[in-house]
Amino acid sequence: MRNLIRSKLPDVGTTIFTVMSARAAELGAINLSQGFPDFAVPEPLRAALARHVEAGHNQYAPMTGVPGLREQLAITIGRHHGRTPDPVTEITVVPGATEAIFCAIMASVHPGEEVILFDPAYDSYEPSVRMAGGRALRIPLMPPDFRIDWQRVKEALSPRTRLIVINTPHNPTGTVLEAADLDALEALVEHTGALILSDEVYEHLVFDGRQHHGVLSRPALAERAFAVFSFGKSFHATGWKTGYCVAPAALSTEFRRVHQFVTFVAVTPIQHALAEFIHDHPEHLAGLGAFYQAKRDFFYEALEGSNWRGARASGSYFQLLDYSAIADVPDTEMAERLVREHGVAAIPISVFYENPPPLRLLRFCFAKQEQTLDRAAERLRLL
Ligand SMILES: Cc1ncc(COP(=O)(O)O)c(C=O)c1O
Repeated sequence: MRNLIRSKLPDVGTTIFTVMSARAAELGAINLSQGFPDFAVPEPLRAALARHVEAGHNQYAPMTGVPGLREQLAITIGRHHGRTPDPVTEITVVPGATEAIFCAIMASVHPGEEVILFDPAYDSYEPSVRMAGGRALRIPLMPPDFRIDWQRVKEALSPRTRLIVINTPHNPTGTVLEAADLDALEALVEHTGALILSDEVYEHLVFDGRQHHGVLSRPALAERAFAVFSFGKSFHATGWKTGYCVAPAALSTEFRRVHQFVTFVAVTPIQHALAEFIHDHPEHLAGLGAFYQAKRDFFYEALEGSNWRGARASGSYFQLLDYSAIADVPDTEMAERLVREHGVAAIPISVFYENPPPLRLLRFCFAKQEQTLDRAAERLRLL
């Protein structure tokens, strides 16, 4: 048959998250691959959602989000980032951070412009850049510490640079940016026209007394940034696909021009439920770092003395583990062996690089109940 469609993303296959979760289901393996909790959304939040559905909050919300939720977000952002955005002009609620990333890129990148990404990069960034007609310049973060080499960023910057995409805490490496990183970024962009897309979906998952360093706390960065967040990560509800973007009014206007024709709105009763829960339960977000740090430690300590190595994750709900003492095979092969022969699904991180460096690391999601982590560790200790 005649080829009716010419692909815009001919080299893009199914995401590794879908592939590994499907392998886990098919083989009955413990799934520490895709990033989602295997425990419940807080009860009062579930109850609030049911109540708002019953109360008839089931039609389109305002395009920018339910006002009560945006107001709660402004207060929460003020508390956590030291800067209170205008809920009317600077906060837009969207169906998931992935949509926000797409809209921010579509709104800002013109054909032929360049976007700086750091590998290993969350897998939606590069296709979104290409769909906007832009060109991704990918700078590798190198093991073992995966820090940004700001000299390389300086060399990559040009008048064609439209956007720099940062992600902290970082998926998949579990690293976090430090104040010095934001200083470096601030100095580099100061006299350029580059905007910043800051993916901070794991903002509350920062461990061992560290602070989250995001763009909103830096006026010189906030004035040129789209900061993107996800309720899915912060409220154990990845399937609710709800997030938000914070950006100065001029950037938000452009962001909303795209958002209104991509999805128009996020789900109404979920927004009402979140507004209520955030207002009534500030302790939830305040305790999230400690909650996940305990899970990281539980998993990490269950593997102590085994052949799996690595430093504890600084943030996110992902732990990288080095298997070089177990096998000398590429990570894609190791992930396949692990799920097939040992019943644990993990994510190979080479797939998030344009040109992967030699690495023997897999990513494990520890957003799981202790019994799940315990069963997985038991299997991993046998290798
Ligand atoms: C770094 C990063 N950004 C964005 C997202 C997407 O979040 P959402 O599910 O709200 O679209 C994820 C989800 O895994 C992520 O890890």
